Amino acid sequence: MNVFNRARSKEIKYHDKFYAETTLFQSGSWLSRPVKVVLENLTHIEKNKIQVLDLGCGVGRNSIPIAQQIQAYNGKVHCIDLLPSAIKLLNQYAEHYGVTNTIVPQAVDVENFLINKNTFDYIIACSCLEHVSSEAAFQTKLEEMKAGTTDKGINCILMSTEVKEIDVLSGEEQVGLIELNLSTEKAFAYLRDVYTGWQVLIEKSVQQEIQEEKDGRAIIFRSNWITFVVQSKGLS
Ligand SMILES: C[S@@+](CC[C@H](N)C(=O)[O-])C[C@H]1O[C@@H](n2cnc3c(N)ncnc32)[C@H](O)[C@@H]1O
Repeated sequence: MNVFNRARSKEIKYHDKFYAETTLFQSGSWLSRPVKVVLENLTHIEKNKIQVLDLGCGVGRNSIPIAQQIQAYNGKVHCIDLLPSAIKLLNQYAEHYGVTNTIVPQAVDVENFLINKNTFDYIIACSCLEHVSSEAAFQTKLEEMKAGTTDKGINCILMSTEVKEIDVLSGEEQVGLIELNLSTEKAFAYLRDVYTGWQVLIEKSVQQEIQEEKDGRAIIFRSNWITFVVQSKGLS
């Protein structure tokens, strides 16, 4: 199996199991609360009939709180995830939280989801774009996101870069298994290039470490978590 297929298979297995075992907003898990920067940037956008696109939405950690905030304004959150299991749970959570009419869910690979031009006021890609198949696919999706955004709209991109696995005992370092393992520098270079002419609201990178067990060994997964938030200057 090539690296992409191994990474994709690991990604699917992990999320299928995790979403089945963890409830949305369960404390102590990464689903415990929405991502602050994702919710904060929503406040910079005019709400009336707002159209939000959440790429790699999972079970709705960000989509559900956003839906709760925009429901009264006749807005919609279009939710895309690769996993049918995630979309099934998202539908159940949408019902539980009373936002079924505001959520538009679709189980599809982000690479096969064509973003229509000039359609969305807010596009979120939170831990999604590092799962596309190539640098070309990454660049194409960014171009599509940009073209799919309305005047003064915002794109909020969060992703892992430079993913490494470090054996705690031996200190041995290996390249991490992920579909698209860009260097932080390269990811920022693509982002700055595609979004030339837009206002950069946030650009930052923070090192993250998670300790896990793999094949009976203690492993540290180290990556740089980047946040890139940009706003279209629009015509006016
Ligand atoms: C770490 S989770 C984050 C979920 C959500 N964005 C959040 O912040 O809670 C990554 C999600 O991306 C989805 N995903 C991975 N590869 C994808 C792809 N190629 N197309 C669409 N979704 C994908 C996974 O199924 C998973 O639900």
